This record gives sequence, structure tokens and C-alpha cells, in this order.
Amino acid sequence: MNPPRPTHLAQVILRDAIEEGDTVIDATAGNGHDTVFLAGCVGEKGRVLAFDPQEKAIRSARSRVDAAGLGCRVDFYQTSHSRMAEHAEAGSISTVMFNLGYLPGDDHAMTTESQETLLALAATQGLLKSGGVLSVVCYPGHPAGAVEAAAVEAWLSSRAAYGWRTAKYGMLGTLQPAPYLLLARKA
Ligand SMILES: C[S@@+](CC[C@H](N)C(=O)[O-])C[C@H]1O[C@@H](n2cnc3c(N)ncnc32)[C@H](O)[C@@H]1O
Repeated sequence: MNPPRPTHLAQVILRDAIEEGDTVIDATAGNGHDTVFLAGCVGEKGRVLAFDPQEKAIRSARSRVDAAGLGCRVDFYQTSHSRMAEHAEAGSISTVMFNLGYLPGDDHAMTTESQETLLALAATQGLLKSGGVLSVVCYPGHPAGAVEAAAVEAWLSSRAAYGWRTAKYGMLGTLQPAPYLLLARKA
């Protein structure tokens, strides 16, 4: 067995953390793979709030969710994740999932950016319940991604002072810096 990719590992870990009826956030809807995963986890009474500023991504994610028969569990917002606090109540969210970078096979310029990502992470502090979980898949293999990954890692590390438990999972010994998963549990 090969070590799982960070995107897969995030789902394996979050599957146990999310309960039926939870409200959760997909902070980077993209092609909707994580949105479908989250919609399956929250069950009929739960909700997924899914964010992406790209119309193309929202269309793609919505069609994947609809094809899975889970459309009634998901609210899509074609806007930046930095605005997530406008759409959810403080302390109401059990899980927030980020998969940074760009839409696979699309314009690489439409990528997540450090400044917006840090604003969104700051918003998760107020939205997450106590014990809520935050996952972030980072892509340090290109210069902007490396800057963003370092900023996210520093922010998450600083949460330890507030009682959050944080961890980092990734491949060792790769030629290029490999994608990795950051995970945190709010105090
Ligand atoms: C790697 S893809 C996400 C893949 C997705 N989780 C999936 O399962 O298919 C990253 C996405 O982040 C989106 N993105 C870029 N800036 C964003 C922002 N400020 N807020 C929310 N999403 C953003 C991009 O448009 C892209 O669709």
C-alpha cells in the first residue's frame, strides 16, 4: 500500500469527525469532490456551505453534487472563502475543509492566495464549534503555493497558544516539495 495522498487522507480523517446533522464548510469547492464527500457525511439533516469565486468551479461542483443526488444538502456561494462568516452563525460549524491551489486543468492564475486564505482561516476561529476540525491541503511545489503554505502553517502553529491541537502529514524525500495536509482541532 502506498501512503495516501493528502486529499484522500483528509477525507479518511474527517469521515470520523463529522456527525449526521452537522453543518460544515467546503472552503474551496473546485470540482466538487470534497463537497460530495461532505454532503455524504452530514446526512439528510446536515448542511454543506461551499465557496468558490469561479463560476466554472461552482457549476462543476454543483453538477457533481446533483449527480450524486445530494443537491438538497448543499448551499453554494460564488464568492471568496474570506466571506464565509457572512453566511454562517458563530460556533455553528463542525468542520471546515480547504484544498488550496487552482482548479485542476484550468487557469493557474485563479489560485488561492495567502491574504484571502489567512482571512478565511481567521473567520474559521469564530465559526467553528469547540472541538471543531479544520483541514487544509497545501501545495508548496510552486513559489506562490510555497509562500501560502508557509503562511498557513505559521497561522495554524500559532493556534497552539489558544489550546488548539495541530498536526502536519506529508511525504518525505520527494524531488519537489510535496503537497501536505494540515489538521487542527479547535479547543
Ligand atoms: C484544488 S481546487 C479545489 C478542489 C476541490 N476541493 C475538489 O474537491 O474538487 C482549489 C479551488 O480553490 C478556488 N479558490 C481560489 N481562490 C479562492 C477563494 N478566495 N475562495 C474560495 N475558493 C477559492 C479555485 O477557484 C479552485 O477551484
